Formats: sequence, structure tokens, C-alpha cells
Amino acid sequence: MLEHIIATRYVLPLREGGSLPGLMEADDLGTYIVKFSGAGQGKRVLVAEIIAAAVARSIGLRTPDLKLIELPAPIAKYEADEEAQDLLTASIGLNLASDFLPGSFAFDDGGKISADESAKILWLDLLIGNPDRTWRNPNLLMWHRDLWCIDHGAAFYPHHGWGEAVDPAKFDRPLMDIATHVMAPYADEMPAIHEQLVTLAATAPLSETLESIPDDWLTGIGRDPQDAREIYRAYLAARMADPTPWIAGLRR
Ligand SMILES: Nc1ncnc2c1ncn2[C@@H]1O[C@H](COP(=O)(O)OP(=O)(O)OP(=O)(O)O)[C@@H](O)[C@H]1O
Ligand SMILES: [Mg+2]
Repeated sequence: MLEHIIATRYVLPLREGGSLPGLMEADDLGTYIVKFSGAGQGKRVLVAEIIAAAVARSIGLRTPDLKLIELPAPIAKYEADEEAQDLLTASIGLNLASDFLPGSFAFDDGGKISADESAKILWLDLLIGNPDRTWRNPNLLMWHRDLWCIDHGAAFYPHHGWGEAVDPAKFDRPLMDIATHVMAPYADEMPAIHEQLVTLAATAPLSETLESIPDDWLTGIGRDPQDAREIYRAYLAARMADPTPWIAGLRR
């Protein structure tokens, strides 16, 4: 389940992030990178982050702890930066907080990461349809000499087209062009590691994770939020049951 916390201070906007994430302090004395529910990218990117993190952890990848952070109105009201104030005002209520890894830096050398971990990252991104792991923007951080996967907001990208009716026959897509993926050299490992990673991924607390996604982040998918949760579950199940299309669809 995602813990609920309350924001106590907006420290600064993170200009390097496309969605203008913010650094915030919370009532649990933690510091977080917050992705805002009122950002132009929409709430589905937050849903993608939450589900992706649960799957990533289940296969043994590191990703910062996620929490739901309540943004009280006064924090938005008293923010001096106009662009940030607009974003905060649109985001009063629940947002997504990622545990801040102080002193972390962008990953830049494949040689230092084990083949096993590298292949797992590629498998995860193929499973969840995450194209956002390129050398230009790897979304991988080094922290205390370990690799941490961040920013899965672009995952499940077909879900931006999902509406009231969702066609399970299309769950084998996307077939990604991985030429620019940082772990592209590990593509040949996919068939060999698939069974083992499916077994690990089955241990992900998927039901609890889906339950903890706020209902109003799921509107517009399926008949109602519960149906939306079922659709995400079915999407992952279908891709795990038969990886043939997405493994065969690897293009390098
Ligand atoms: N938990 C974290 N701890 C430390 N730094 C982080 C954390 N999460 C994000 N960052 C930093 O903030 C930057 C932006 O975060 P993130 O990539 O999640 O946002 P984004 O808006 O989706 O960005 P983009 O679309 O540009 O990739 C990251 O590249 C990283 O430098
Ligand atoms: Mg990013």
C-alpha cells in the first residue's frame, strides 16, 4: 500500500524534469521529489509510475519508495514562483512523492552494472512499455554505488489511448524499437530470463498497489476505477503469459 503523507514545504522546482517536479518536505520529516497531479502530462503518468515501481521491485531492481502526498492549499497560495504556483494550485490534493536520493547522479557507464541487472532493466521496460531509458535521458541514478531506476511515467504508453472500452487483443503492443535503450545490448537475454522474471514478478503486491491508486487518477479507463484496475492487471498478465510478440518485436 502507498503510505499517505502531508506536504509541509515546497523547497524548489526541479527544472531538469519535463513535468516540473518539485522538491518537497513532508510531515514524516522526509524529503521527496513530487510529481504533480495537475501537471500537463496528466494523472495516468502517475499511475504508470506506481505500477512500474511495484513490478521493478519484485524483480529485484531498486527504485525509490513512493508515497501519496497531500498538498494543502496554503503551500500553493504562498509560492512566489508564478509557474510553480499555477502547477501547485492545480495539484491541491493528492500527488506522487518519490523518496529523494540526496547526492545521487545520472548513470553513465554500462560497464559498472552487472549483466543480470542490466538485462532485468530491459525486460522491465519491454514488459511495461517504457521507452524512456535512453542515453540522452537514462532515468537511472547512481546512489551509494548502487543503481536506482526512476521515472516510469512514460510506461504503459498505450494507456493514453484507453477509454471506456479497452481492447485486450492489443495488449501485446507496444513492440518497442529499442535501438536507443541504454540496455539494448542485452536484448538477446530476454527469452532466457523471461520465465525466471515472471516468477519473481508474480510476487509483486499488485492488488494492493492497484487498490492504493486514487480513484480519480483512473477515471476515463474502463467502466469505473475498479474496472480500470482490472485492465492494468490484465495488461500485465497478458504480456507475462506470452512474451512472444514483444520479444519477437525487438528491433535493434
Ligand atoms: N527520487 C529521486 N531522488 C533524487 N533525484 C531525483 C529523484 N527523482 C528524480 N530525480 C531527479 O529529478 C530529475 C527529474 O525527475 P524525473 O525524470 O522523474 O522527472 P520527469 O519530469 O519525468 O523528467 P523527464 O521527463 O525530463 O525525464 C531526474 O532526472 C533526477 O535528476
Ligand atoms: Mg526523467
